[in-house]
Parts: sequence; C-alpha cells; structure tokens
Amino acid sequence: MTVVNFGSEDYPSANGTMRAIMLICRSIPQIRDAVATLRASGGSVGLVTTMGALHAGHMSLVSHARADHDHVVATIFVNPTQFGNPDDLLTYPKTEDSDLAMLRDAGASAVYLPDASEIYPDGAETIVETTRLANMLHGLVRPGHFRGVATVVCKLFNIIGADAAYFGEKDYQQLQVIRRMVADLFMPITIHGVPTVREPDGLAMSSRNVRLTPQDRAAAVCLNKALTRAQEAARNGATVEAMRDLIAETINAEPRARLRAIDIAEALTLAPVTGHPAGDIGIMISAEFGPDENPVLLIDQREIRK
Ligand code: PAF
Repeated sequence: MTVVNFGSEDYPSANGTMRAIMLICRSIPQIRDAVATLRASGGSVGLVTTMGALHAGHMSLVSHARADHDHVVATIFVNPTQFGNPDDLLTYPKTEDSDLAMLRDAGASAVYLPDASEIYPDGAETIVETTRLANMLHGLVRPGHFRGVATVVCKLFNIIGADAAYFGEKDYQQLQVIRRMVADLFMPITIHGVPTVREPDGLAMSSRNVRLTPQDRAAAVCLNKALTRAQEAARNGATVEAMRDLIAETINAEPRARLRAIDIAEALTLAPVTGHPAGDIGIMISAEFGPDENPVLLIDQREIRK
C-alpha cells in the first residue's frame, strides 16, 4: 500500500509541542488501510465529507469531529451525480492544495480524494434514494440532486467505516435526507448536525460565495436578514404564512437577488405546516445572484425550536 504523506515531514502544532501527519489517500485500499491503522490503537473515527473549496464552515465540522473522536477523516470529492446543471459542475471551485493545508492544520488524520471512476466504475447501477424527502422542496428545484447526495454519502460511509459523520445544518434538507437514509438502512454511524458558520455580516459561509461579485456579495446578506426577521416574527407568534410573506418582502427588496424558494416545514420530517406551528420548524430559502445564464444559487436555513 502507498499512503502519501502531506509534505515530507512532521509539522508542529501552533504551540509547537504536538506533531502529526495527515495521510493522503487516493484509492479505496489506501484509505481503508489508513483507517485500519488509525483504529489499531483503539481510536474512534469521525468523518467529514466535503466537495472541497473548504472554508470556515467545513473547519467547524472538523473541529466538532475532533472534539468527539480520536481521529478525523475527511473526504474531498466533487460528486457529479448531484449536479443537474453541467456548468455548475464545471465551474465548481477546485482548491486542492489549500484544502489539504486547511485540513492538516485543523488536525485531520487522513483525507480521501477519489477519482469519479473509483466511486462510479463502469457497470455501477445502484442508487440510494429517500423517496419522499428527496423529491420535495429543494428536491423539486433540483431533480435528482438528493439521490446523488444519498448515493455518494452511502458509498463514502461504506468505504470509510467511521463511527460518526458531521454535516452542516445549512444544507438542512440534505441533513434530513442523510439522517433518514442512515435510519432506514440501519447504518452503524451517528449523524451530527453542526450549526451554520456565518461571515461577520451574517452571510452563511458557502463554497459558492467566491463566485459572487462584490456587489452581489453585499446583496446576499438579505438571506440571513430575511431569516432573522422570520425568526423574530415566529417568537411573536406569527403564522407560517406571515413568516413566508416577511421573507419574500425582505429578499424582493434587494434588487440584485432573485428569490427562488421559501420552504417552511416541520423540522426533521419536512412535512408541510400551516398556520401557527405546533412544534419545531425548519425554514429553508434560496435566491440567485449574478447573470441569468450562470447564476450563483445561495441557500440558507433556520431551525426554530418551540
Ligand atoms: O454537502 C456537501 O458538500 C455534499 O453534498 C456532500 C455531503 C459532500 C456529498 O457530496
């Protein structure tokens, strides 16, 4: 087995005491060997799956995983089956060197970076789909997206064999899809949702933010503003319909934003809610910025607990 170390030597931590090596694995045998080595001393493994272009939101997943486990394994794979629009796939940012440096500095023990041909070899035909959750709300706007997510996440879980995996709450529907898949298929892994990390002005961190022009970047703050107004209204007893109106009004007041969706649903199940919600709810919104022919679609979310 060849496991390639990042850099040629150990590196000191910020306080100069601890030394560590991050294993870089580009094939299934390599990452399985790496995980077996990490586990040899009885250590537990937390997994962070990513599509690269890492930012502070991903690092928050890594630090939650590190807090709970002896080792963190990360994956970097831009999964083609979750992209409906080929341009979106082609323009997805690729920043492998800085991703690896960030993961190494955050204390990840191993990283798996497969080729698409390893994840989807010729002849592969099995897909995983949460039939209800994948085909509602954001799934209607992006047909096949959550099927692609569930399929790749299932494959990565089977390849790595981690004890737990960490996903951002920003992708709220994705998180519920993964929780459902794990429960339905009796997968021996614990799923943790991690709160959204925001820029100082409230914009949710996203790999797509780098594609925004400075003007659109400034305008994009309207998503968080809309969610904050809806949350305040919920605290004051607003109905779901009133929250929806408030969100639409806030986003439509920003001329650079094109509102795409406002979904307000029961938390976890994403079942429809109307009137005064009886329990916890999830609000998921999306808006586009930039040119019509190649827009930047941003999503944001807020879970409101009773
Ligand atoms: O959230 C993401 O980055 C991706 O959807 C995931 C979970 C890594 C699957 O490709």
